[in-house]
Amino acid sequence: MRSPLVVGNWKMYGCTDDVRSLLEGLCKEELPAKAGVAVCPPFPYIGFAQALLADTGIAWGAQNLCANSAAEGAFTGEVSASMLVDMKCRYVIVGHSERRTYYHDTDDLVAEKFINAQSTGLEPILCVGENLEQREAGETLAFVEQQILAVLDKVGIEAFEKAVIAYEPIWAIGTGRTASPEQAQEVHAHIRSVLAKKDELIADNMSLLYGGSVKAENAAQLFAKPDIDGALVGGASLKAADFAAICRAAE
Ligand code: 13P
Repeated sequence: MRSPLVVGNWKMYGCTDDVRSLLEGLCKEELPAKAGVAVCPPFPYIGFAQALLADTGIAWGAQNLCANSAAEGAFTGEVSASMLVDMKCRYVIVGHSERRTYYHDTDDLVAEKFINAQSTGLEPILCVGENLEQREAGETLAFVEQQILAVLDKVGIEAFEKAVIAYEPIWAIGTGRTASPEQAQEVHAHIRSVLAKKDELIADNMSLLYGGSVKAENAAQLFAKPDIDGALVGGASLKAADFAAICRAAE
């Protein structure tokens, strides 16, 4: 059985005071017992999140990691998978469209990061999703399938036993324009069918998150769809009450 999961991707937002008030606020909120809840702060605040969230049931993770499998080394500016494990991270986001667009994270690099994350026991959250041009050209399903296969063909289906996939249409990220539940469901069902061709049980157990302008007001309709198991939330994860309401809708 797959379990619902809501993850906050804070992107490059926050300062010490913000992180404290957001996480202290979140700890006071009513959170679902049966849905997983996690936050991915910027690197400098992961240790602080660890200190504030230990023993709360809220997990934490990172937004990126070094593709190189070295635990440490001369890689200026990089953060290794082992360092994230040391900070007790559970998840790490790989292949977010902002990294693919601005930092040239190619499919190959995303696959390397996925492998590197898993080799240390982190659970990768693999992001895929089309841009507006691709959607309008009717290329969404083929494009998303190719993004999944670029990783799947390298890591094997067994690797997806301990991973999460997030479908994030680029045109819906930060735009206030959410994919309709039907649009999201269509892509989620396709992703599950791509995985099912390799292993039905793994496909059935896979948590598929939707991301792109998820808010407290639209979360429940999205989560009502059979293949939408939760959300990867950007902007709305920066407010404790909003994020908690989305988490509750996932149960
Ligand atoms: P928004 O929720 O701000 O649209 O961001 C979605 C996202 O990119 C999460 O990874």
